[in-house]
Amino acid sequence: MPWTDNLEHLLKETLTPRQYEILIYLGKEAQSLGMKAYIVGGIVRDIMLGRESLDLDVVVEGNAVDFLKSINQEGCHISLHERYKTGSLIFSDGMKVDVATARREFYEYPLAQPRVSSDSLKHDLYRRDFTINAMAVSITPDSWGTLIDYFGGRRDLNKKTLKVLHNLSFVEDPTRVIRGIRLEQRLNFHLEDNTLRLLHSCLKGGLLARLSGYRLRSELELTMQEKAPFPALKRMAELGVWDILFPGLRIGKTAVRTIRRLSAFLARISRDFPDFRGYEWLAFLAALAIESHETVQFAILDRLSLAPRERDIMVQSLDGLRAAEQDLGGRTLVKNSEIYGYLREISPVTALFWSAATERWRVRRRILSYLTRLYRTKSHLTGRDLIEMGYRGGPQIGEILSQLRDRCLNEELTTLEEEVAWIKNNFPLELRQTKRH
Ligand code: CTP
Repeated sequence: MPWTDNLEHLLKETLTPRQYEILIYLGKEAQSLGMKAYIVGGIVRDIMLGRESLDLDVVVEGNAVDFLKSINQEGCHISLHERYKTGSLIFSDGMKVDVATARREFYEYPLAQPRVSSDSLKHDLYRRDFTINAMAVSITPDSWGTLIDYFGGRRDLNKKTLKVLHNLSFVEDPTRVIRGIRLEQRLNFHLEDNTLRLLHSCLKGGLLARLSGYRLRSELELTMQEKAPFPALKRMAELGVWDILFPGLRIGKTAVRTIRRLSAFLARISRDFPDFRGYEWLAFLAALAIESHETVQFAILDRLSLAPRERDIMVQSLDGLRAAEQDLGGRTLVKNSEIYGYLREISPVTALFWSAATERWRVRRRILSYLTRLYRTKSHLTGRDLIEMGYRGGPQIGEILSQLRDRCLNEELTTLEEEVAWIKNNFPLELRQTKRH
């Protein structure tokens, strides 16, 4: 029998009002079709820890595709994977819910009777990685908020322990080694002794080393996208994961310092520079490889099957650091417009990496001022204003705007009036009028 308990109050406290509303709606829908629906996995864990969770994962006992087809909400986009009996909902406000059919991986004997419904949920949960991720909470109205815990997830949450459900967990899916470490460090838990032993034998048996580049990359990307990736990266070093993944990788003081600074800088500038287009993790990867031999660095790029754009960012970051320090640390690039001109040619992720990797404070200060301020400096006047003032659209406008921006960057022009006066002085009216004909 599973441990059950009612988490109604926690759902109310921890979910956002919108998440709450959506779950109530989905639960009612399931019940009207004679199905049962549950939230499962990470969201249950996070609710019980009082942490916010973005992902809504729902499992239904019944066919998820039929369930999804019955959803009738204005503006709600439904995608289906009939073959896997899964799908997702994207509500008009962007809220996403993944829905799966409670899956059984095996039958105990060939002529097994059709199982009572909760058994398929039990099997679905048993396929999962750690006990704390293998709990469900009912969202059907007649049992709303009931926790279903077959494997001691709640006990392990209280003990702050990560424990696999069975001895083949890492063999079934070696990415769980990295997931486990990530979760352990994020939640400040510890891997239980037997789990740690199984993790080591997965490493020794070469299972992690055999992961495809794509899967490995996805796990590392997620790890490096954590709010504070350093503890997980350090733990991976302690457990010997890096030696197995990237033989020859050298993680010394410079790498550690760079990784720590990256986290700090990212937290500091994320409001001002919100868009690294999802490439931030590459700055951490470059930091990890900063002290390693070039052959090891290239082996990492190959092993992770990085896309050409990602490779370019990595190579520019690692190879260009010394030159950037010279260029940005000297007396040639002094004006804001010069710093802007230099850095706009490179990826902001590379700039971020350089700012963390350099020991030269002037270089760091200049890059951070670019990322937080300079890169989004614009003149008050736009191209449209210039056309209204009489200039012909085309390259000339581009040239004027670029000169104008440089003056704004250098704070030579600060107000709209100053900009208009500057244009009138430098691009006289007669010239504008002749240009019109
Ligand atoms: N899962 C698993 N084995 C994996 C990946 C996922 O068993 N290799 C299960 C876990 O039950 C997990 C759920 O699938 O809780 C959802 O996976 P995912 O969304 O990737 O992870 P979360 O646990 O939600 O963690 P996060 O907070 O990092 O998103």
